[in-house]
Amino acid sequence: MANPELAIIPQHVAIIMDGNGRWANKRGLPRTVGHSKGVEAVRETVRAAGAVGVKYLTLFAFSSENWGRPEAEVNDLLGLLRRFIRRDLAELHRENIRIRVIGERENLRGDILPLLVEAEETTRFNTALTLVIAFNYGARDEIARAVAKLARDVEAGRLKASDIDADRISQSLDTAGIPDPDLIIRTSGEERLSNFLLWQAAYSELVFLPDYWPDFDRNLFYDALRVFASRDRRFGGLSNKAAAAVVG
Ligand code: IPE
Ligand code: IPE
Ligand code: MG
Repeated sequence: MANPELAIIPQHVAIIMDGNGRWANKRGLPRTVGHSKGVEAVRETVRAAGAVGVKYLTLFAFSSENWGRPEAEVNDLLGLLRRFIRRDLAELHRENIRIRVIGERENLRGDILPLLVEAEETTRFNTALTLVIAFNYGARDEIARAVAKLARDVEAGRLKASDIDADRISQSLDTAGIPDPDLIIRTSGEERLSNFLLWQAAYSELVFLPDYWPDFDRNLFYDALRVFASRDRRFGGLSNKAAAAVVG
């Protein structure tokens, strides 16, 4: 099936775009070529998501741990993000795509933060797909910042400790207002979350693909949507079939 029209379309898909370096290595190319090819895959994925009515697409672009890579590679990744925003912002805006950025914003050097803020501001009233860019993002850092904010609110008397519940924590995360991901896809064969959306992933369906990110395309995306549609989400309850059997 080229197009998953009949499948259940997840409202929110989040992707751990992994394997750029190995894609390049396999071809005897420098890692940077893999990262550049990865941007092409991003463009195709955004289009493919919009075309089938996905409302939120979150892409893990750079983790808080990725600063530990060699400086040249870090600069390369930052440069690609910069270029992506500069080149693609106008088109994303034309396509009615809203951009949101999650991750720690303090201490970002240079022009990256102003660029990200410009992308958010320019597109803030757009209503088609919301493209969530996870940049300088780590879930433990996100949760720690949310907890610190709630603690400050309690200290200042704005909030009672007994009012802190799961919803209030969700609304204090960078993803406030964004529904939890229904589907998380990771490419490259690794089967781990690597500090991505740990709180929000509580009931996400996970799909791990062997393909490296630069090879990701519309077809692989729609294959993953079909796998998602075939899953039986129970959220701790009973599946529809099992519930019917209990009633019957
Ligand atoms: C994903 O590819 C891009 C980022 C993590 C920024 P990698 O650079 O992690 O590629 P591999 O995993 O080393 O192949
Ligand atoms: C996760 O990939 C981060 C991004 C895709 C941006 P990594 O390549 O950094 O994860 P590990 O190191 O394999 O867990
Ligand atoms: Mg990797």
